[in-house]
Amino acid sequence: MKFCYRNVAVGYNGAKLRSGPLEQVMTDLNPQAKQMADESMVRNLAAQARAIWPQEIPLLRRYALPAEPRILDAGCGTGEGSSRLAESFPGAQVLGVDIVDSHLELARRRYASLAPRLTFEHQSIFELKAADRSFDLAVCRHVLHSIPHADRVIAELARVTRRGGYLHLIPEDYGMLHFQRAALDPRDFWHEAPASFGESTGTDLFMGRHTFGILAALKMEEIKVDYVVVDTLRVPRETFAAILEAWRDGYAESIGELTPISRESAVAYFNQMIANVHDPQGYAVWMVPVVSARVPTS
Ligand SMILES: C[S@@+](CC[C@H](N)C(=O)[O-])C[C@H]1O[C@@H](n2cnc3c(N)ncnc32)[C@H](O)[C@@H]1O
Repeated sequence: MKFCYRNVAVGYNGAKLRSGPLEQVMTDLNPQAKQMADESMVRNLAAQARAIWPQEIPLLRRYALPAEPRILDAGCGTGEGSSRLAESFPGAQVLGVDIVDSHLELARRRYASLAPRLTFEHQSIFELKAADRSFDLAVCRHVLHSIPHADRVIAELARVTRRGGYLHLIPEDYGMLHFQRAALDPRDFWHEAPASFGESTGTDLFMGRHTFGILAALKMEEIKVDYVVVDTLRVPRETFAAILEAWRDGYAESIGELTPISRESAVAYFNQMIANVHDPQGYAVWMVPVVSARVPTS
C-alpha cells in the first residue's frame, strides 16, 4: 500500500473514529453538503449525465407509464436528470426537489423553457411534501450513497409513488470502478477511501449492491439491477476524465481529512486515473448500477 497515512484515529473494520466531528456528521442528514454545493459538483453532474444518460434512457423507456406521467426527481441537483426526463417524456409533469438552493436556482434558469411542465422546489427527500401515491415514477440519481439512512429515503419514495408505479434509482457503488495499475495501484485507493469515507460520514458508499435488499424488504415488485457502463470505449475519454477531475477537485480535501489517505495522495491517485483514461491505449471502467422496482399494485 502506498498511502500517506495521517495521524488520525481512523481505522479499518469499524475501528474507533474521532468522536467529536464524527458524532456531528453522523447526525447530519447531508454529510456531503459542502461537496454537493461546490462548483466541481456542477461540472461533475453535467459530465455524469453526458456519460450515463445515453445508456440510461432505454432503461427508463421500459416502464409502462401513462402518456402524461407525473415524475419526481428526488435530489435533482442542477436538474441534469430532471430536464432530460422532461425532454424525453414530452407529456410529463416533472418535479425536481433538492436542498441546495443554488442548484435549484441554476436549474430554474437553465431549463426555464421547460416550465411549467418542469418545476423545482426546495424539499428534503427524507420528508417529501407530496401526498401518498402522487407520482407514476420516482427517480433518484446519484444521491443514496451520499446520505445516511438511505432505506428511509427509498421508503419515502415508495410512499409518494402510486401503486404499480416505478422507482428508478442510481445508487453509486465505489467498489465498481477499475483502473490500470501504474506507479500507484488504484485498487488500493478504492479499497480504502470509500470504506473510510463512508464510516466517517455515516453513509454507505457501496449502496449499489445493497439497494436490492432494501427494495426486497419493502416488498417491491419486479426489482431489476442493470448497469450503465462508463468505460473508455462507450463514453468519450474527456467526459470520463471530467468526472474524475471533478471528484479530485471536490473530494481530495475531505478524503485527506476523513480517511487514512492524505489529500496529496488522493490527488496523485486521481491524476494517475485521469491519465489512464486519457491514454489512447488505456482502458478503465466505472459500472453504474441502475436499480428499479415497481410499487405493489395491491
Ligand atoms: C450527486 S447530486 C445528484 C444530482 C442529480 N440527481 C443528478 O443526477 O444530476 C446529489 C444531490 O442530492 C441532494 N441531496 C442530498 N441530501 C438531500 C436531501 N435530504 N433532500 C434533497 N436533496 C438532497 C444534494 O443537494 C445534491 O444536489
